[in-house]
Amino acid sequence: MGVECFVTGGTGFIGQHLVAYLSAKGHTVRVLMRRPERLAALREQVDNLGGSGARVFAVAGDLERDNLGLSHADREVLRHARVIFHLGAHFAWGLSVEHSRSVNVEGAKRVALLAAEQKSRLVMIGGYMLKNHEHLQRIGIDPRSPQLTNWPAVYRHVGGYEGSKLEAHFATLEVMSTLGGEITVVHPATVCGHSRTGHIVDGQPLVELIRNLVQGKLTAVPGTAEHWLPLVTVDYLVELVAVCAFDPAMAGQELLALDDQSPNLRALLAEVAKPLGIRSPKHHISLRLLKWLLSIPPVARFLNSKPEALDFIQTTRFDTAALEQFANRHGITKPDIRQALQHTATFVNSCCLAQDKAR
Ligand SMILES: NC(=O)c1ccc[n+]([C@@H]2O[C@H](COP(=O)([O-])OP(=O)(O)OC[C@H]3O[C@@H](n4cnc5c(N)ncnc54)[C@H](OP(=O)(O)O)[C@@H]3O)[C@@H](O)[C@H]2O)c1
Repeated sequence: MGVECFVTGGTGFIGQHLVAYLSAKGHTVRVLMRRPERLAALREQVDNLGGSGARVFAVAGDLERDNLGLSHADREVLRHARVIFHLGAHFAWGLSVEHSRSVNVEGAKRVALLAAEQKSRLVMIGGYMLKNHEHLQRIGIDPRSPQLTNWPAVYRHVGGYEGSKLEAHFATLEVMSTLGGEITVVHPATVCGHSRTGHIVDGQPLVELIRNLVQGKLTAVPGTAEHWLPLVTVDYLVELVAVCAFDPAMAGQELLALDDQSPNLRALLAEVAKPLGIRSPKHHISLRLLKWLLSIPPVARFLNSKPEALDFIQTTRFDTAALEQFANRHGITKPDIRQALQHTATFVNSCCLAQDKAR
């Protein structure tokens, strides 16, 4: 039976797919929108992605505003939401600390407050770096005592986006535990396009990587043969997120959504180069050297990248046993990541890169 859901970030890449999935299952989905006049376009997109646009409704608001900027009437309607999915975030490199905190940290706390007040399950999207314990330790975060973290130092280390995602995670857990709310956190790896259609949205990290490869700006593989960019396809991720929300056993749990079959970075580049008929780099460039080069603004502009993007390329391996158990328990099949990469490259070439040429 369909239930009421509230989604923040429902107009974004992952959000569109989640809204499509939930509406296809018969749920009523209310989406927080800064520009509610775009509802018709969102409904059309949801239909295109296999959902039911007619079950999608706009709630005017903004993560940066007190009480999310909700009208009294919308606030009353949202009281019926059984699940609140929080995906809204400013996802970009080079954000200021002030701005990233305002959207990503304060926004997440506002959503958590709303969920806890009305006893809705909160499903929050974090990020897989929260499951990289060596990384957390290196930048001065002890997940058992996050209150001891020197946040300004963390932001200096990892930049506005990643710093605010890390801070938002612990701040949200704190709000939910203080108010006795139910939360589930899903930590996605870098998100790959849809496993069958390759659908992805311009601006996503993988689109930039493919664009750089096609434009000949990636002539060496960052890191070593051990370095990889852990991935998860958007359709697998969205199914995990939606199923988590209705599983009582997932209350108070965190789930790492990461495909451990993701190839190393060199093989990833070879995979996306294949359907495009282009060469992929064979030689490596050290991450330290590349980071230094990217600290020079004209080089960063030319290479269309930022030092922050390199933090996600790593050698750490992750324990995905809990994910596999969860997926098996619910009969969720993991798509083939290499095929998904090829479909994504084809989609990026025919949509995002074709638009570049038309400009
Ligand atoms: N994509 C990845 O590889 C990846 C990996 C790990 C974690 N994540 C996390 O997954 C979530 C969704 O990511 P995504 O890739 O789907 O991002 P996205 O495509 O950039 O979408 C961001 C969404 O947040 C909304 N938003 C931004 N600022 C807002 C504000 N002030 N008030 C209300 N809504 C606001 C945007 O709405 P507008 O339409 O109004 O701009 C959009 O719907 C984020 O929390 C991100 O950190 C993503």
